[in-house]
Amino acid sequence: MNRLLSLAIMFLMVSNLMAQEPEAQNRPNRPRARRSMVPTPSYPATADADGNHVNAHGGCIIAYNGEWLWYGEARPRFGFTSEGVSLYTAPIGTQPISASDSLAATPLDLKWKYRGLVLTVVDEAGSPIERGCIIERPKVLYNERTRQFVMLFHSELKGRGYEAAQTGFATSESPYGPFRLHHVQRPNPGRWPADFSDEDIKRAKALNPSDYPEWWTPTWRTAVEQGLLLAKDFESGQMSRDMTVYVDDDGTAWHIYSSEENLTLQAAELTPDYLGYTGRYYRIAPGGQNEAPCLLKHGDTYWLICSGCTGWTPNEARMFSAKSIQGPWTQHPSPMQGPGAKRTFEAQGTWIWTQPSPTADSPTLYFMADVWMPRSLALSRHLCLSITFEGDLPVIRK
Ligand code: GAL
Repeated sequence: MNRLLSLAIMFLMVSNLMAQEPEAQNRPNRPRARRSMVPTPSYPATADADGNHVNAHGGCIIAYNGEWLWYGEARPRFGFTSEGVSLYTAPIGTQPISASDSLAATPLDLKWKYRGLVLTVVDEAGSPIERGCIIERPKVLYNERTRQFVMLFHSELKGRGYEAAQTGFATSESPYGPFRLHHVQRPNPGRWPADFSDEDIKRAKALNPSDYPEWWTPTWRTAVEQGLLLAKDFESGQMSRDMTVYVDDDGTAWHIYSSEENLTLQAAELTPDYLGYTGRYYRIAPGGQNEAPCLLKHGDTYWLICSGCTGWTPNEARMFSAKSIQGPWTQHPSPMQGPGAKRTFEAQGTWIWTQPSPTADSPTLYFMADVWMPRSLALSRHLCLSITFEGDLPVIRK
């Protein structure tokens, strides 16, 4: 009986410790917590209206009907699979609430109301969103033609790691969900990039991965630029992992994603209902190994801010500009400046949050990023930094 009692007390103590926010656990007078599985965060939590950390990562914030809608990955406290996509809302026009821990408030410190999971994983065996799958970087667009909210996301199948590399499409009549899975697919099977000449196609078709067993050599890199991996996936469709969406001034929606084994970004035009591809797509920085794309337009120039490919570990951001989404794209130095810039302030971009500015003509743009905590993805932090233009170049400081 004594043994049972002490076991029960121990269990209660451990579960109590695990249930606390990591800040509480990491206080100096709680040395045991340092040995727990919860990592030390480098940024404070983003509290929602109930005081819970916002569990929306790799997401987007869009305006609709007087509200900000923040959709993001709902991640479990431990492990790498997904629970679905969560939604938080806040009224547009309210001021950031002051941060409780005396750190300066950020634009994200609004009174976010948790609206639950708008897309949930299911228990149906074989479904692309079967529990155990991975749903990353959800982005939501409102389609005025169909009056539907369309969600695109990076979809990975249960038990298959990151090999499926597909795009998921889900729809809802309401911004609050529930979103229903429409289908998952790889972009543009059987299509060459729109700007590939007959010569380019002939050269790409002749490339064979078995002729390049060793990666990262100069000849391999040239072959990648010429379409070695593009051609490999020609029949099945192009790989599609980290992603964003962008609706251009003419109403054309684009899906921009890391493709070709994360070595090349592609920009693919979506059909007018946003539920598929028209077959028109372009490559961006072939062989450049970019991911986490975020796109903005300033004046007549498109700016693409990306990360390198080091998984959950931060790296130096990259930036490209073009006069059209179709390219050509020119590379620039990272827009991050000041201390921590070399590692993007420990974060990785996910979205450009466009806010109307009460004083200026042009909106205020914020670079939203995730400070990943792979040992507890649900607790990953958020970073939201304003983008200014200095001599026409975007600059981001912390
Ligand atoms: C990152 C990517 C994340 C996630 C992670 C998995 O590079 O940006 O969205 O896929 O890799 O390791």
